[in-house]
Amino acid sequence: MRHLLVAGNWKMNLNLAGAESLIRELLAGLRELPHNRADVVVCPPFVYLFPVAQLLRGTSIQLGAQNLYFEAQGAFTGEVSGPMIAETGAKYVIVGHSERRHTIGHREDDRMVNLKLRAAQQAGLTPILCVGETLAERQSGQTLDVLTFQLTAALVNVKLDRPDDLVIAYEPVWAIGTGHNATPQQAQEAHVHLRRELNRLAGPIAESVRILYGGSIKPENAGELMGQPDVDGGLVGGASLKAASFLGIVRAALAAKGRC
Ligand code: PGA
Repeated sequence: MRHLLVAGNWKMNLNLAGAESLIRELLAGLRELPHNRADVVVCPPFVYLFPVAQLLRGTSIQLGAQNLYFEAQGAFTGEVSGPMIAETGAKYVIVGHSERRHTIGHREDDRMVNLKLRAAQQAGLTPILCVGETLAERQSGQTLDVLTFQLTAALVNVKLDRPDDLVIAYEPVWAIGTGHNATPQQAQEAHVHLRRELNRLAGPIAESVRILYGGSIKPENAGELMGQPDVDGGLVGGASLKAASFLGIVRAALAAKGRC
């Protein structure tokens, strides 16, 4: 059985004091939950990785970063490498988030995503690879083709030996930060497709790789989404910034999977 994973992507939010109090509240709340039945991960901005890691030491919450550069070191002003992230104690790193593909700066293309994914694995980090279609792509019936293309391109020259070598997050662009989540059926259809494509690319390990849903997850819709057989958890943006809503999502996910 795939282990449930709920990750909070804080994006460029909170300050240090806010980050620390959120962690304290999450730790207190998780004590009440059977949290060893799920991997709970927080992904703060780079500058908060070390202080957050200190608070997380010896606890059940795991750490992730939101991005990395594909070179290990060198003259790349402003970038942060996989080994640097690993040094903070982080275990995960988000790769190819749609805001990096479509919104920020020079916009990451599929080749860059592939280089970053390989760099993450090389640094011993588990990449959380984000894929997803835009609204125009969905409306023109291209959703599954887009997912196939993004997944195939991201996995060029990538070997998957262990289930933890990769996490995939299906994040329809039109659902991110909009309040419009995919329906459970839309999510399940996309996840089944991604798992089938992963099997084509990497073989039977696809059955053990976790595929998360992301896009406007809230405590109110998490149960239905996580109840789908191929939805193995969530990547949560806005609702991960408040302990009550993030814990509500973890609780709903555990209940949906029959783990509490
Ligand atoms: P959201 O973001 O939950 O605020 O829609 C999800 C994400 O970007 O990972």
